[in-house]
Amino acid sequence: MHARTTSDGSDGSDVLVLGGGVIGLVTAWRAAQRGLDTAVVDPAPGGGAARVAAGMLAAVTELHYGEQTLLALNLASARRYPDFTTELEEASGQDLGYRACGTLAVALDADDRAHLRELHALQQRSGLESEWLSGRECRRLEPMLAPGVRGGLRVDGDHQVDPRRLAGALVTACERAGVRFHRDRADRLTVAGDRARGAVLADGTELTADQVVLAAGSHSGRLAGVPTAVLPPVRPVKGQVLRLSVPRPYAPFLSRTVRAVVRGSHVYLVPRENGELVVGATSEELGWDTTVTAGGVYELLRDAHELVPGLTELPLTETRAGLRPGSPDNAPLLGPTALPGLHLATGHHRNGILLTPITGDVMAHALTTGELPEEARPFTPRRFGILEEQPV
Ligand code: GLY
Repeated sequence: MHARTTSDGSDGSDVLVLGGGVIGLVTAWRAAQRGLDTAVVDPAPGGGAARVAAGMLAAVTELHYGEQTLLALNLASARRYPDFTTELEEASGQDLGYRACGTLAVALDADDRAHLRELHALQQRSGLESEWLSGRECRRLEPMLAPGVRGGLRVDGDHQVDPRRLAGALVTACERAGVRFHRDRADRLTVAGDRARGAVLADGTELTADQVVLAAGSHSGRLAGVPTAVLPPVRPVKGQVLRLSVPRPYAPFLSRTVRAVVRGSHVYLVPRENGELVVGATSEELGWDTTVTAGGVYELLRDAHELVPGLTELPLTETRAGLRPGSPDNAPLLGPTALPGLHLATGHHRNGILLTPITGDVMAHALTTGELPEEARPFTPRRFGILEEQPV
């Protein structure tokens, strides 16, 4: 596929995706597969929140009250993961680290257990599969768990993928599908007449496209040039994450994702097949701050140690903070906006990795038909109301 030259001499494409994180990349890959000439703007494609994320595919264990609509999308995406993984591994020649290992959510004290009982009841009302286990049954499954574990929920359908591998594979799959990369920052959206026309990059390059997809994660809400009425209401939600490593030869440490709410804070431990153990995550509303703090690391290690005491013997190999793109209802904003030519694919908050497969499919459908598929209609950006009433 080749870029077209438009009447003003600039580089034009069918689709210009602003943001090369997993959401932008999967959108570009799927669009290119549908025959659309596609370009991505990002200074470091494959970066962003996926460099930090643990990669839990936790539709069931991360269920929250009031998020039933989002649950349907999360489950639909989780169901696509095995085929998506096979297809992307074939397209890229890379292993995604997808692991159908299941998850165990445990409780350490009476309050935690009450919280978990509530979650179990909500899961049952929602028709989801999870099994209540005693503390002893939890330890039989995961012998490294603390003796004080009071009970838990076994969720065999919540798996994991390695987000860094996912992002790397998507970059390669995009390249192989003919997607062009502009390794620069988008400075502003351009609007001509009544429609989005492209973007100006930090180095002054002007790009034009028939359709523009704003997929810049938490930065999507602050791109210059986007009319206020269609500016997505996303905000950064900081997450600090640690990486430890289980030395070779890997002693059995954890066989599945283990998570808990300890004194009101969520902690999870995600064991990879290569010995990496990811411990996450804080959730902090601190604007654009991505500092790794002593307090954040301390709290994560303290809570993880209460769950799995042997963890303090492991080398601590990495500490990082990333920004989740939070939206007012914790659900993504997908598809066309009230500004013709401008689509959104952002606001995935805690579920960006989980929602990657379905986001690619939904966005490709929207870009080729102008409509959202049925399953994604609740996630139209227009649900936030102001978007249709105000002129753009
Ligand atoms: N879904 C995990 C997190 O957002 O920390």
